[in-house]
Amino acid sequence: MRRDPLDYLSRELDTLKEQGLYRHLRILDGEQSHKTSFDHRQVVNLSSNNYLGLTTHPKLREKALEATRRLGVGSGSVRTIAGTMSIHAELERQLAAFKQVDAVVVFQSGFTANAGTFSSILTKEDIVISDELNHASIIDGCRLSRATIKVFPHKDVDAARAIVRDLPAGPRKLLITDGVFSMDGDLGPLPALCALAEEYGCIMMVDDAHASGVFGRNGRGTVDHFGVHGRVDVQVGTLSKAVGALGGYVAGSRALIDFLHHRARPFLFSTSHPPAVAAACLAAIELLLAEPQLIERLWDNTRFFQAGLKTLGFDTGLSESPITPVIVGDGAKAMQL
Ligand SMILES: Cc1ncc(COP(=O)(O)O)c(C=O)c1O
Repeated sequence: MRRDPLDYLSRELDTLKEQGLYRHLRILDGEQSHKTSFDHRQVVNLSSNNYLGLTTHPKLREKALEATRRLGVGSGSVRTIAGTMSIHAELERQLAAFKQVDAVVVFQSGFTANAGTFSSILTKEDIVISDELNHASIIDGCRLSRATIKVFPHKDVDAARAIVRDLPAGPRKLLITDGVFSMDGDLGPLPALCALAEEYGCIMMVDDAHASGVFGRNGRGTVDHFGVHGRVDVQVGTLSKAVGALGGYVAGSRALIDFLHHRARPFLFSTSHPPAVAAACLAAIELLLAEPQLIERLWDNTRFFQAGLKTLGFDTGLSESPITPVIVGDGAKAMQL
């Protein structure tokens, strides 16, 4: 009988089980909402990225359905061949206006936006200076670029400065931080990092996945929150979290976006969004502009929840955002909780 060449995977999984780190996927029985049912149990859902409740908003549903009826369920092609529909172009125009930048390109996800951007604008001769808690998609994007990666301790601008100061003058340097850190919920020190980037001529990049729809005027993100417009060369955002649908985008100069059209591999080699996704995102932008009370309610809920957890004696770390870690200290215990 043929020996299973993948049997080492079962052994690895057994080790995870012994360590209490094996994951069972919870099944959401209905829609992604604040009160819902997972594995047939009614729960209050505090674990999704659906910050504003837009995943089930009637206006997004209606626009997505209307786009499906009018334009079909798929785009049928990658963007560069036949898959750029007018609704994709309209979403990019609206996002560029919203973010107050020259241009935007939408990717299939925030993950592919990062993967595609680093790997196209950097080469193996270049250097990335990256916060130690930056998201996995940033780490993977940097690896794809084959640039040298220098990691600085979390939010430690002095340590980042010490790294940049000692680098050779020749290579291109890119400084990258999450706008909101996805596990701890604290904010990247944008003004100080922008100043560092300016002093040493680095490209400044921010991943605002968890800030889009949450921070800044009408949810424009941390660049707006900190008032550093024009000082961040590359902004990444997602449409999969507060915006409620799916996708990622890069916002910046016309040249940056044109270049990504020519070099970003997920843009070139993976099919674009169904029209319903673009339509839902357009509706979400309209809502962010028309109903800022959605964001106010998010912040009211955040203050209520975080104060309650603290009163109950939980350690919620140093969060400055709706992301509320409950720090347990032990992996297995955290899985149990
Ligand atoms: C900081 C950050 N960047 C990018 C992503 C990926 O975004 P998406 O879920 O749209 O792929 C995430 C998702 O958790 C994130 O936290």
